[in-house]
Amino acid sequence: MKDIFKSELNYIMDKRVREAAGELIDMLPEYFFRVPASSTGKYHPKCSNVEGGLVNHTKIAVRYAKELMSNDILFNNFSKHDQDMIILALILHDGFKHGLEEEKYVRFDHPMISANFVKEEGESVGLTKEECDTLYELISSHMGIFNTSTYSDVVLPLPKNSMQKFVHMCDDLASKKFINVEFVNNNIVE
Ligand SMILES: [Fe+2]
Repeated sequence: MKDIFKSELNYIMDKRVREAAGELIDMLPEYFFRVPASSTGKYHPKCSNVEGGLVNHTKIAVRYAKELMSNDILFNNFSKHDQDMIILALILHDGFKHGLEEEKYVRFDHPMISANFVKEEGESVGLTKEECDTLYELISSHMGIFNTSTYSDVVLPLPKNSMQKFVHMCDDLASKKFINVEFVNNNIVE
């Protein structure tokens, strides 16, 4: 399944991290590649509320990161390695949005499930312990200010450092209903 993220994987500069990313994508649940980004249709633009829409949403979030980090006067404070971590965190951030086994609705605590997945599997595919910790923090805090829910007792961690805030920003922008991106077969139309 990693081929669906071929372009996004190529944004990762370190070959070891890129290969680990491919292996982690291949471990994501089957439904991730099929479901829309919003289980109710209430959130997310039209392009992400179709079959395969969660992949589209993921691609938009990654693309924002890539575009913004490539702009030297905007976000030039991230090292190459930071940038790889940000891209990988965004690829995986919603990987378990409906739980370990597919549930009907989005799980509010999905950031913790995806973050735990990376912590548990990351080292077996060649990531370092430090990288797994960084990814855990980036993924678990990706909801930003939307860290509580009336449907759950879980309080998600808030983004604290600039990398964590950046990941949240890219996810948040990709979720806005007013920014609709054209896709053909899960590929952004340029
Ligand atoms: Fe997301």
